Amino acid sequence: MPARQKVLLFLHPKSTVGKGIQIALEFVRFKFQVQTGDIRNLPVLTDDNKGRYAVIVFEDLFMYLGLQSANRNALDKYCREYNVGMIFLLHYHKKPEEDPLLISQFNLYFLLNQLIVRRILSPLHIYKQFKVGKYIKYHFHQPQGLIIFPCVKEYEFLLDNTIENQEKLYPVILDRGIYDGIQRVFFGSTLKFFLNKIMFLDALSYLSYGRLSIPLERYFQIDIDDVFVGIPDTRLLISDVNALLNFQSQLRKNIPGFSFQLGFSGKFIYSGTDAESEADRMLLKMSDEFLWFPHMWSHMQAHWFLNATKLCDYMELNRQFAIRHNFNTSSHYAVAPHHAGVYPVHEQLYYCWKKIWNISSTSTEEYLSLRPDHKRRGFIHKNIMVLPRQTCGLFTHTMVLDMYPGGQEILLEIIDGGSLFQSFLYNQINVFMTHQSNYGNDRLGLFTFDREIKFIYKWTNLRLKYEPPMALARRYFNIYPEEREPLWKNPCAQRRHLEIWSEEKNCNSLPSFVVVGPQKTGTTALYWFLTMHPHVKSNHPSPTTFEEVQFFSGSNYFKGLDWYMSFFPTPENNTVIFEKSATYFDQQVVPKRLTMLLPSKHVVVVLIDPAKRAYSWYQHMRSHNDASASKYSFYETITAQPGKAPPALISLQRRCLDPGFYARHLENWLEYIQSQYIVIVDGDLLKSDPSSAMFNLQTDLGFTEIYQYDKILKFDKRKGFFCQLLPTGKTKCLGRGKGRQYPDMDQLSVKYLDTYYKESNTKLTELLRGINKPIPGWLSE
Ligand code: A3P
Repeated sequence: MPARQKVLLFLHPKSTVGKGIQIALEFVRFKFQVQTGDIRNLPVLTDDNKGRYAVIVFEDLFMYLGLQSANRNALDKYCREYNVGMIFLLHYHKKPEEDPLLISQFNLYFLLNQLIVRRILSPLHIYKQFKVGKYIKYHFHQPQGLIIFPCVKEYEFLLDNTIENQEKLYPVILDRGIYDGIQRVFFGSTLKFFLNKIMFLDALSYLSYGRLSIPLERYFQIDIDDVFVGIPDTRLLISDVNALLNFQSQLRKNIPGFSFQLGFSGKFIYSGTDAESEADRMLLKMSDEFLWFPHMWSHMQAHWFLNATKLCDYMELNRQFAIRHNFNTSSHYAVAPHHAGVYPVHEQLYYCWKKIWNISSTSTEEYLSLRPDHKRRGFIHKNIMVLPRQTCGLFTHTMVLDMYPGGQEILLEIIDGGSLFQSFLYNQINVFMTHQSNYGNDRLGLFTFDREIKFIYKWTNLRLKYEPPMALARRYFNIYPEEREPLWKNPCAQRRHLEIWSEEKNCNSLPSFVVVGPQKTGTTALYWFLTMHPHVKSNHPSPTTFEEVQFFSGSNYFKGLDWYMSFFPTPENNTVIFEKSATYFDQQVVPKRLTMLLPSKHVVVVLIDPAKRAYSWYQHMRSHNDASASKYSFYETITAQPGKAPPALISLQRRCLDPGFYARHLENWLEYIQSQYIVIVDGDLLKSDPSSAMFNLQTDLGFTEIYQYDKILKFDKRKGFFCQLLPTGKTKCLGRGKGRQYPDMDQLSVKYLDTYYKESNTKLTELLRGINKPIPGWLSE
C-alpha cells in the first residue's frame, strides 16, 4: 500500500538544524508534519489502511536510537510495510567511533559497507554524477556540526576537501536495507552545506519512489527595472548595452529564447549624462532585442491614486511612450513601483492595468510577506497572475563589486551555494528583479548570473529554461494550483504593507468580532440584539445577502479586501464594529481566511442542540419551497441513503446535518485561533433569557460598559419569543422567517438524531471542557 506525499519530521525543539530541514521542505512545497521533543507517543502513521508519510526524517540519528524499543519497532514495521525510507542527519561533535550507542545499536560500520547515495539516485537526480574515482577539489566554507565517518577511506566519497584537512569529509551514505528491509540515507553533516541540500532532495525523491520529487527544469526570468531611471553617472553606457546584448546572445545558446525583461518609466529617458543618453538611444534602436514591461510613467506609487481615472490616465502616458518607440509589450507583464498596490491590493491598480495594458501577470516580494523568503507565494486576483519575486543579492545601490555591502565575499557566497543558488534549486520558477544600475558600472548583474549559471551547471543536472512572462505565469499556477486563491492578510500586521496601503484605509474599520453561526441557532436575533447596543455597530447590509456579508465563506472572498471593507463604517471612538455571517462556522476554509485578516479578534459561536438545528433548517428550506424538502419528510431526509436516494435529497441531507458536528468544526477553528478568542453562546439561553445571554457575551468580549438588555427586551406572547420594547410600550419582533410555527419533531427522528449526534456531542463536551468554556445547558442534560 503506498504512502502519501508527506514527510514526517522528528526535530529537537528550537533546533537550527531542524529549522534548516523545514525551510527546505517549505521552499519546495512538500507537505510535512513535525514531531518535536519527547517522542514517547508516535503520531498516527496510517489512516484507512494508507500510510500517512512517504519518508521519515530524523534531524539527529540519536533521536531514533533513543526511541523506546516498542516505538522503534512500530516505526520500522511501518517503513517496511509501506515502502517508506528514512533520512538521518548526524551533526554532533563527538567522534562516532567513540560512541558505543552508534556502534552497538545501529552498527554503522555495516552501513559503511553499502553504497554512497549519488550512485543510486535516478532518474531524477539533481546531484551531478562525477566520474568514479575522480575527487572533486573545492574550497568550502566549513559547514557547522561536521561529522567524520570512520572507515570512510574504503569508499568513494562524494566530496573531498583534503587540500586543507585530510580528516574532514562529508559523506552521504545509503543503506539499501539489505539487513532489515528499510532503506536509510545518512547525512554526515547538516543541510547548511549546499551539496547536502541537493542530496536531501535526491534522497527524498529516491526514498519515496519519486512521490516527493520535483523535475529538473528550472524556469527563470530576469527583470531589469528602471532602464531609464537613475542618477547621472550611474547609468548605462553604450558599452554596457553591448555587453548586455552579448550576454543575452550567449545565454540563448543554452537557453533558447532567453530574453531580458526591461521595465520603463518613460518620463525619465535622456535624463542622464550625454553619453548615457546615447545609450538610451541605442536601447531604443535595439528595442526589438528585448521584451518590455511598463513600470509607471514617472515612478509614482499606485496607492497614491484614489481616483482610478487619474491612475489610468497616468498609465496611458507610459503606453503612448511605448507605442512611439515600438516597444514589444506583448508579454502583458507589469511591475508596480515599490510593489505598491499589488499586495495589499489597491483595486484601482488592477483595474487600470487591465484597462490600459491588458496585463495578465506581475510579480512581487510582498505576498504573503517579504520575509521569510522561502514562504513567498503567488496568487491570482481579477485575472492577473501574481508570481513571487526572488531576490538575487543585487539592489539599485549595488553597482561595484569591491563596494558590495559587507565585502565581495558576501555576494560570492550568495551565488556559490548561497541564497541565489537555493532559489534555483528549490523553486521551479524564479522571477528575479534587478535594476539598470546593476548593468552599468561593474555590471554586477551580468557577473552574478554568469557565475550562478556556471555554478548550477557544475554541481547539478538542473536544466535552465526560459518562457515569456504570460506563459511562465500559467506554468507557475499549473505547478502550484493551490496558490491560485489569494489570502488577504491584515495590512496593519506589517510595516512594509502599511507603507504601501492607501492612507484612506484603516484597520479600525475592520470588525472587532465576528458572529460565525451556525445557521438556525438564533444568529439573527443575536445580531439584532447587538445592534441595539449603543456602542456596537454592524456592517452595512448587502443587497443580496441582507445583514450578512458572507465574505470569508464563498466567492465574495475573491472580490478582495476593499470590497469587504466597503461594508464597514469608520468607527467613532469607543464604538465596536462587528459582522455576522452564519455560513462561516462550518466551512473549512473560513478559519484560515478569517484569522489571517482579523488576528486576535473574537469569534462568536451560537450552539443549540444539533438535532433541533437540523429540524429548524429543514423547516426553513420547506418554507422556501425547496423541492426536496417539500417532497420528503424530515425523517426521510435525515435517513436517506447515499447511492440510493436522489442526489438532491442527499445534498439537502448533508446541508441539514453537517453543520451539527460542532466538535469537528470547532477543532478546525482551533487549528487557527487560540481558544481564548472563541466565545460560545448558549442558543437556548439566548431564546429563553436573552438578557443573561447578552450579559455573558458582553463580558466574554471584554466590553467595559455592559448594556442592560432587560430594559429593552420583552417577551411577546404572540410571537413566543423576546422582542424589542419600543418607547410606545409596543414590541417589535423579528419577521415571520424567524421563530416559525411548525409541529414538534416526530419521535422517530428524535431517536435517530439522538444516536446520530451522540458521539459528536460527547466529543464537544470534552472539547469545551478542555478549553475551559461553559457547557451549554442542552449539552449537559
Ligand atoms: P425557528 O424559526 O426554527 O424557530 P437564525 O437566525 O440563526 O437563522 O436562527 C433562527 C432561529 O432563531 C429561529 O428558529 C428561532 O428559534 C431562534 N430565535 C432565538 N431567539 C429568537 C427571537 N428572539 N426571535 C425569533 N427567533 C429567535
